[in-house]
Amino acid sequence: MTQLRGDQVIVVSNREPYIHEHGKDGRIVVKRPASGLVTAVEPVMRACSGTWIAHGSGDADREVVDANDRVAVPPGQDDYQLRRLWLTAEEEQGYYFGFANEGLWPLCHVAHVRPVFRESDWEAYKAVNQRFADAVVAEARSEDPIVLVQDYHFALLPAMVREKLPNATILTFWHIPWPNPESFGICPWRREILQGMLGSTILGFHTRFHCKNFIETVDRFLEARIEHEHSTISFREDETLVEAYPISIEWPADATIASWPSVPEARRIVRERLGLQPDTTLAVGIDRFDYTKGILERLNAVERLLEKHAEWIGRFVFVQVAAPTRSSLEEYKNFQERVERLTLRINERFGRPGYQPVHLLAQHHDSHAVNELLRAADMCIVTSLHDGMNLVSKEFVAARDDEQGVLILSRFAGAAREMTEALIVNPYHVEETADALHRAATMPAAEQRARMASLRATVREFNVFRWAGRMLTDAGRWRLKARVDARVA
Ligand code: F6P
Repeated sequence: MTQLRGDQVIVVSNREPYIHEHGKDGRIVVKRPASGLVTAVEPVMRACSGTWIAHGSGDADREVVDANDRVAVPPGQDDYQLRRLWLTAEEEQGYYFGFANEGLWPLCHVAHVRPVFRESDWEAYKAVNQRFADAVVAEARSEDPIVLVQDYHFALLPAMVREKLPNATILTFWHIPWPNPESFGICPWRREILQGMLGSTILGFHTRFHCKNFIETVDRFLEARIEHEHSTISFREDETLVEAYPISIEWPADATIASWPSVPEARRIVRERLGLQPDTTLAVGIDRFDYTKGILERLNAVERLLEKHAEWIGRFVFVQVAAPTRSSLEEYKNFQERVERLTLRINERFGRPGYQPVHLLAQHHDSHAVNELLRAADMCIVTSLHDGMNLVSKEFVAARDDEQGVLILSRFAGAAREMTEALIVNPYHVEETADALHRAATMPAAEQRARMASLRATVREFNVFRWAGRMLTDAGRWRLKARVDARVA
């Protein structure tokens, strides 16, 4: 990343890019977590090096770090340093499961799950933000490093770092939606959260719409000066640029594509593995097992398709990969049970010997397995009820160098703003989504090609390096301006 020109880069996120775990035979295995954040930020770190600070969550993580809790990653390539920070079970419970995932996650997604705000979770959230902020400060080799703060786990950290490193360039990217002021206003600590975030030099969201919501929220709850023209907020000593940076994926290199099984090969492998007929029309969904992803809604649509178009019974199969996530939380347990029950119902209604319409694969799948499924599929269904961006939609089109396959995409995913050649649906509308499934299953190859070629051109161009590059270019301008201002003062 040329924009960095030797500046020190420190990334902070809760989720680590590589998790070391004990495999079944006791040997240590490395896992890439199912995380949009990791998918996007990891290639950027490989390109610019530096240090990534994250929670060490794997059961073998401590066994591979050095005396300073560091390990060089990616394993064998050693492009950058992963510095692991250890949280106690209580810290993780209060900060991660509690405030971040029972409070902020439903608050920002507005997916009809009531946020839970506990005083004890808030205390843990503050304390963990401080611990990570201290780690950033300890890591800094100069007074003005570039700090890339990732996501809703660290709303307070920007101001904490700013206090110790006033000249740092702090780029905070909020990977999830930002709701309107009325919705956000129910958070008991709304002011503290906004003040924390405004310690950032640049605050990024996926869409203009989320930036607008954020600016309106600040306007409602803080005494700040807002320059709508420049999209900046001045609060106390700090000025923050609030900008939209649509996140993306790393476009696969030619050598990577050459290593993939051919599409006919992937179609054969996957259909054989699942016990499907060679000509089965296959739809796939790849998600974390999360209630924001609209998995129930898409199952309802599959059921409706089979009701409306009996000709698909026996010929249409939907495979849902649902990577386990936050499973200790009540809302997640309930949701997962509801998905399992609905899957069973559809399979009982429409299944018959040798035919199971829905396959629910509730396990982590590595990137190779995901890619194979995406290449084998006739369509990919993304029906998030609300999603900052959704990178699976982009991974699907990147996987389809044959320019075939149809993307069905929720209008409530940030990706719908860029990926307009997908079949865009309202996942709450079962009939509309079922019709989209039918349309995808019957779409002529030429139309698939036209849509897919255009989607691929968009994602190839607006890839993750464009995302990071735009943010870093803005940061570079800001750093220059700060230096000039300091000289004039
Ligand atoms: O969407 C927000 C996010 O942090 C993503 O980056 C990622 O896909 C997901 O949540 C991961 O969740 P977790 O780290 O809790 O498994």
